[in-house]
Amino acid sequence: MIFTVAIDGPAAAGKGTIARTLASRFGFAHLDTGLLYRAVGAKGGDPVAAARGLTEADLARPDLRTLAAGQAASRVAVIPEVRAALVEFQRRFARQPGGAVLDGRDIGTVICPEAEVKLYVTASPEVRAHRRWLEVGGDEAQVLAEIKERDRRDMGRAEAPLRPAPDAQVLDTSTLTIDEAVDLAVRAVQARLEGR
Ligand code: C5P
Repeated sequence: MIFTVAIDGPAAAGKGTIARTLASRFGFAHLDTGLLYRAVGAKGGDPVAAARGLTEADLARPDLRTLAAGQAASRVAVIPEVRAALVEFQRRFARQPGGAVLDGRDIGTVICPEAEVKLYVTASPEVRAHRRWLEVGGDEAQVLAEIKERDRRDMGRAEAPLRPAPDAQVLDTSTLTIDEAVDLAVRAVQARLEGR
């Protein structure tokens, strides 16, 4: 069975949690595509060469989850050649037999517009900053400023900007618990699997 769930949205909206839960619930493979951009940003040197030569070991680096790695990722993610170098891998992953969930910024719009389920998971910048701050600590105002800066860069870039696909189901998690958000996503997948 070929079945793709595309999950897009801004940082700390809950995409990762939803994607991981859907993958384990339905037995789909999962790819956190942000990790590809984080690995390219963390590698240093020429980002295009880094994207073309990305290895498993690059993706296993322990320092890819930091705020700084997120900022570095969004800077290399504006470069069209970097994005182009990562497209094929993501497309193949999305259409592998057995089903796949991919979360990122351009999955439903560019990587897999034919995805069977498209979710756009979002929340207010303040709510997202608070969630991220609970994970990483530090100065909450600074976390909010970084989230807003990354939103601006991700939504404003010319190549594959962050925006909902026209046929995406928008899930605003600002006032939802994790369980409620996951439940809505599970229902969307179930409905499509059952042909509803
Ligand atoms: O999702 P995550 O916070 O790990 O993504 C880090 C950065 O990588 C994003 O801010 C964005 O600039 C970039 N990205 C992207 N396209 C994707 C996934 C991530 O441009 N599909």
